[in-house]
Amino acid sequence: MKRLVLILFAVSYFLVSCQKTTHDKEMDRFINDLMKKMTVEEKIGQMNLITFTGGLATGATISEGPAEKIRKGQVGALLSVTGVEILRKAQDLAVKESRLGIPLFFGMDVIHGHRTIFPIPLGLSCTWDLELIEKSARIAATEASADGLNWVYSPMVDLARDPRWGRVAEGAGEDPYLGSLIATAMVKGYQGPGLKDSAAVMACVKHFALYGAAEGGRDYNTVDMSLIRMYQDYLRPYKAAIQAGAGSIMTSFNDINGIPSTANKWLLTEVLRNQWGFKGFVVTDYTAINELSNHGLGNLQEVSVLALKAGVDMDMVGEGFLTTLQKSLEEGKVTVTDIDNACRRILEAKYKMGLFEDPYRHLNEARAKRELTKPENITFARELAKRSLVLLKNENNTLPLKKSGTIAVIGPLADDQTDMLGTWAFFGDRQKIVTVLQGIKNITWPTAKVIYAKGSELSDVPGLMRALTFFGTPGLAKKPEEVEAEARKMLFEALKTAQTADVIVAVLGEAAGWSGEAASCSDIGLPETQKRLLKALIETNKPVVLVLINGRPLTLEWEDKHVDAILEAWAPGTEAGNAIADVLFGDYNPSGKLTMSFPRNAGQIPVYYNHKNTGRPFDERNKFTSKYLDVPNDPLYPFGYGLSYTTFEYGEPSVSNTNIKGDDTLTVKTTITNTGKFAGEEVVQLYIQDPVASISRPVKELKGFRKINLQPGETKEITFTVTTEDLKFYNADLKYVREPGDFIIYVGPNSRDLKQVKVKWE
Ligand code: BGC
Repeated sequence: MKRLVLILFAVSYFLVSCQKTTHDKEMDRFINDLMKKMTVEEKIGQMNLITFTGGLATGATISEGPAEKIRKGQVGALLSVTGVEILRKAQDLAVKESRLGIPLFFGMDVIHGHRTIFPIPLGLSCTWDLELIEKSARIAATEASADGLNWVYSPMVDLARDPRWGRVAEGAGEDPYLGSLIATAMVKGYQGPGLKDSAAVMACVKHFALYGAAEGGRDYNTVDMSLIRMYQDYLRPYKAAIQAGAGSIMTSFNDINGIPSTANKWLLTEVLRNQWGFKGFVVTDYTAINELSNHGLGNLQEVSVLALKAGVDMDMVGEGFLTTLQKSLEEGKVTVTDIDNACRRILEAKYKMGLFEDPYRHLNEARAKRELTKPENITFARELAKRSLVLLKNENNTLPLKKSGTIAVIGPLADDQTDMLGTWAFFGDRQKIVTVLQGIKNITWPTAKVIYAKGSELSDVPGLMRALTFFGTPGLAKKPEEVEAEARKMLFEALKTAQTADVIVAVLGEAAGWSGEAASCSDIGLPETQKRLLKALIETNKPVVLVLINGRPLTLEWEDKHVDAILEAWAPGTEAGNAIADVLFGDYNPSGKLTMSFPRNAGQIPVYYNHKNTGRPFDERNKFTSKYLDVPNDPLYPFGYGLSYTTFEYGEPSVSNTNIKGDDTLTVKTTITNTGKFAGEEVVQLYIQDPVASISRPVKELKGFRKINLQPGETKEITFTVTTEDLKFYNADLKYVREPGDFIIYVGPNSRDLKQVKVKWE
């Protein structure tokens, strides 16, 4: 019997491998035939990604004459245009009117949902729920593909430890381990059961690489980083996404140790293709080839050569390839093989997507009608959003609120729709956005009275007011005196409203345009106009709950001291108001945990949990230790932190063995008891420290977590398995090694409050 099973297994394995080789061979044959027919110009055309008026432009350039270019075979893909009707026209031009009829890729920034908008990725990551995150990407893919798209510029997996950088909103926070798992989940979600599925879109991992480490948190800025740090931390989520099968990857705008990513052969060829075995195609970020000139690498022709030679396959919008490669070929600066390689990778991607079989796979009006913002998607958006909220403070059990009495909902974001979606949500269905005010009314009707006042503008800082939305806003047209008079009037109204209330819910934070691309800030506290309002509300001596809508960790020392309860809601998406109300009124017990540390002030940045020790670790009694004179070293709210309406008690962790040999595994157990009155979910976290090694190692690193649900009084035992993989790191020779010795295993509810056990691992 056993033999029979083995034979069957061997036969099926053989058949599967044959299928794979046949399939690859078929693809090769198909593409070889096609490429034989292509002129050099047509090959270069495939390497050209364009946009046009009516689409979105995140750089200065809009491509000229798109239709003519498509007809001439000068376009491989279209950017930022959505909708079946218009995309069908574009596909018709390519398929029916260009010489070889090669179908187009249609790409778009579908970052956290397409028409149904989910929480911004930073919020999503705070769910620590990989299944739900994957499902959100699956739904986003279903909607995007129903809207004609076949390629999404997501996931953004740039590790980020600097909340001044606006794009922290688009990523999964500061941790490489969690970031890698989330990257994998998202790629799986987008690409679904297989790229040929009509509801699958090709993922594009971005921004390769290290974009999140921009100096000073200023967008597009220089990165200079040790190789150990790159391999150990920053490169890991990209690698995970590639291993999960992402079909494409986008270069970043930044310079890396002197060579911008878009011209960085070591990065795009040595690391990405040779070391990681990436088989998909590389697209630049928006006009990133042209920008190599500003980096000081030469004129457009020269930088286009550099980019191609480095390993770039497709040029986003800048048309450096389109306008200069033919000349470079004639002058011997690039070879036909360079061009063929790039063109082939793009054609392979189209083949894998099944576009040659059916260029209209994603262009189905009936599907669009059926799939976009359908009720199940909205229901899921609420489920997901409530799980992304993080309770930062809850003094005297201020929350959950009662659904009775008079509730004053106050603040510039209280009755706001647009900012609920956050960054990169241009095609979010605006009709369906639920404001916080509406959500609170929905949940408390008819038992409570809900009153509202705006209270203040978001800010009076001109730079911020000019950046309310992604593409900028006209700013403050009013004179300072008018602004001041209006501010006083709004504050007066708010206080009058607050006087009659039993509790105040202040909804403050950031406009959608204050995070995301080109939205770095040096001050990451609440703007003065909003602080003034908050202070006045606190002076009424009524309980104040602060609900924060924002795209980055904020500095909240003052708020933490003075407000009764703080709920970090990020930009929660279409169902914002309902999800927030679910949590405020206890219909859902909050379970989100931070994936980025909240600094006490901007001067502490970067502050992240997996830092190293110095030679002079902080010691209060000793002046000559590593510290600031005016602020503690630790963040206000650490990585992994988040409160619940119930309390969880952790038992002492126990291990299966304190002396482990070689490749054995270690079992770590701990018990968690719900000691409060509410049922609740908890993210149990496991960290490891390697205290003695051949290089200095972080004080701790996340290596496992489990999300569990406990009824009041219930106890659960959680088991983690630690393997030698969890102990490995890149040593001084960049070898991925495990060094025997002592290890400290920590278990707890966040990266600060941990219980530990020590083991020896030989
Ligand atoms: C952004 C990318 C985005 C691209 C296309 C760029 O400005 O950096 O993240 O995918 O535009 O919209």
